[in-house]
Amino acid sequence: MSDAKRNILVTSALPYANGPIHIGHLVEYIQTDIWVRFQKMWGHRCYYVCADDAHGTPIMLRAEQDGITPEQLIERTAAEHQQDFAGFAVEFDNYHSTHSPENREISELIYSRLRDAGYIVKKTISQAYDPAKEMFLPDRFIRGTCPRCKTVDQYGDSCESCGATYAPTDLIDAVSALSGAPPELRESEHLFFTLGRFEGMLKAWLADNDLQAGVVNKLQEWFDVGLQDWDISRDAPYFGFEIPDMPGKYFYVWLDAPIGYLASFRNLCEREGIDFEAFCGVNSDAEMYHFIGKDIMYFHTLFWPAMLSGAGMRTPTNVFAHGFLTVDGHKMSKSRGTFVMAKTYLDYLNPEYLRYYFAAKLGSAIEDIDLNFEDFELRVNSDLVGKVVNIASRCAGFIVKRFDGSLSEEIDRPELLREFHDAADQIAGYYEGREYGRAMREVMALADRANQYIDERRPWEMAKIAGSDDEMQRVCSMGIFLFRVLAIYLKPVLPVTMANAEVFLGCASLTWADVERTPVGQPINKFKPLMQRVERDQIEKMIESSKEQPENAAPASTEATVAEFGDEISIDDFARIDLRVALIEDAAHVDGADKLVRLSLDIGDQKRQVFAGIKQAYDPASLIGRHVVMVANLAPRKMRFGVSEGMVLGAGPGGEDIFLIEPDRGATPGMRVK
Ligand code: 2FM
Ligand code: ZN
Repeated sequence: MSDAKRNILVTSALPYANGPIHIGHLVEYIQTDIWVRFQKMWGHRCYYVCADDAHGTPIMLRAEQDGITPEQLIERTAAEHQQDFAGFAVEFDNYHSTHSPENREISELIYSRLRDAGYIVKKTISQAYDPAKEMFLPDRFIRGTCPRCKTVDQYGDSCESCGATYAPTDLIDAVSALSGAPPELRESEHLFFTLGRFEGMLKAWLADNDLQAGVVNKLQEWFDVGLQDWDISRDAPYFGFEIPDMPGKYFYVWLDAPIGYLASFRNLCEREGIDFEAFCGVNSDAEMYHFIGKDIMYFHTLFWPAMLSGAGMRTPTNVFAHGFLTVDGHKMSKSRGTFVMAKTYLDYLNPEYLRYYFAAKLGSAIEDIDLNFEDFELRVNSDLVGKVVNIASRCAGFIVKRFDGSLSEEIDRPELLREFHDAADQIAGYYEGREYGRAMREVMALADRANQYIDERRPWEMAKIAGSDDEMQRVCSMGIFLFRVLAIYLKPVLPVTMANAEVFLGCASLTWADVERTPVGQPINKFKPLMQRVERDQIEKMIESSKEQPENAAPASTEATVAEFGDEISIDDFARIDLRVALIEDAAHVDGADKLVRLSLDIGDQKRQVFAGIKQAYDPASLIGRHVVMVANLAPRKMRFGVSEGMVLGAGPGGEDIFLIEPDRGATPGMRVK
């Protein structure tokens, strides 16, 4: 690798400001953070910026649902996001928001340049309109029956059951997900960006830059299909930036989202006196990289470079796409407890376990990665605790106790140390090329060599033999010298553990150039354990606390394992179930839940709150005053929305077909059902 210093601007995709960070998001932030930390350790001038993606209809509606303003929502979420990132040692140089003055200014600038250059055209389009909510509806807010497989309650753009994609107008019995009203078609004038005129430019950009094979293939497919004009405006009401020369129209969230990268960097430059133009100017020789998920390639490899080029600005050096995270071979799932929020993870496990695990699995190709919890436990315990940290813990005690913390002046096995030094370029190359899995394998092979050396030399036996002190000091020091090189190689992945290692090694913040600066004769400090083993029960607790009642479950019996006909239970088993008549005193929608209704029940001597998955079958208002049957001695269950203290019984397969069991007239609250 060359020694020349590079100027590098790096971004990760901006998370939406209406939801928490989860472990799926973290693949990208950890991947990017490792890359940036490596560049900084190497000595390059590298800045890593991010922001919350704060605009759009879902954010506007979510704020409305929560009874707060969008500004309040995005402020609250920004604080939560930053706390989660800090918890995982994802260290941005700046974290900003797309709802910022810098972003408004740069968005208006890019828009006006595109308009003046003739790249914006007006067209009148017909769209679904919710007459009750008085707003146009994004496809995702229209529900109806799939025109292909006839599954009910599908989104306006695609069917989750058969995978068909279609226009919202193709849905059967379409309704607005917001009001339930059938949408009308209404016309409105929109602004379009003429993407098709950038085909030549995009092909040249593709040829000039070293894009991933997966990106190149996708681009080729898109060129073959033909590039369509892109609708960049939305009608009021909308939370975003109003288009300066088109009152009542707003920039579509995806127009100003990537501009948010530049806005965040501009904000950093102004705060720290960095020359913005040196990185973002059209003639800049700085590198600009965007790390993204494979689902947003279209925006980053077509719209974004085209918009920048059309506005006379520099284009990205590269866009690094990664795959999705699966857990134990499946999509992350709330009911299985594998949809783990960053915050929940941090309540149970060391973030550096996950950083290492992801690193060990990540390569440069756009492939999904699987988090398998058995493998996770095994790798962390065997590689990090059993191999790497073990080297230090086997050697440090003797140095501190027997030699007053002083490392030997001599190197016991210079050729072994050289072998460790010689790996530096290869490992650096792997980091640079985002081949972290290969880098980790290389480091672990070295850790094995270090442990073999200690096993062969057996310093603990020297401790018992008079006159072996010098040799013992040499051997333990050699172990520490080797550990220190590994600490450097692992520092981009394990910044916190290695910061603690630096304290024990008594050295300043280690850089890549420190690999060959062996601290012969230097003092070290008392060793404190650098990392604990992963405990299986911590993983289990984390999964348990990530579980949510499946929202499509029927209210009662279908939730548990359903007994088959013929499976017998004893009368005693049956008697253990305390069934009671309950009066529904109140019933209400649950904010943020698609399927749940919150029931306030009177069971004679007690009041109970129960969350029942019956929203599609019943209008809550129609339930008030009815008598139902509930399981009164079911263990209370903590859910995202509160504690559910029992179940009400219903029949039917679920969805709209649930029929609550009602006692005959005359039954009163609290009566035992037998
Ligand atoms: O897909 C998403 O989560 C978007 N919020 C990513 C935006 S990245 C960039 F363009 F801002
Ligand atoms: Zn379908």
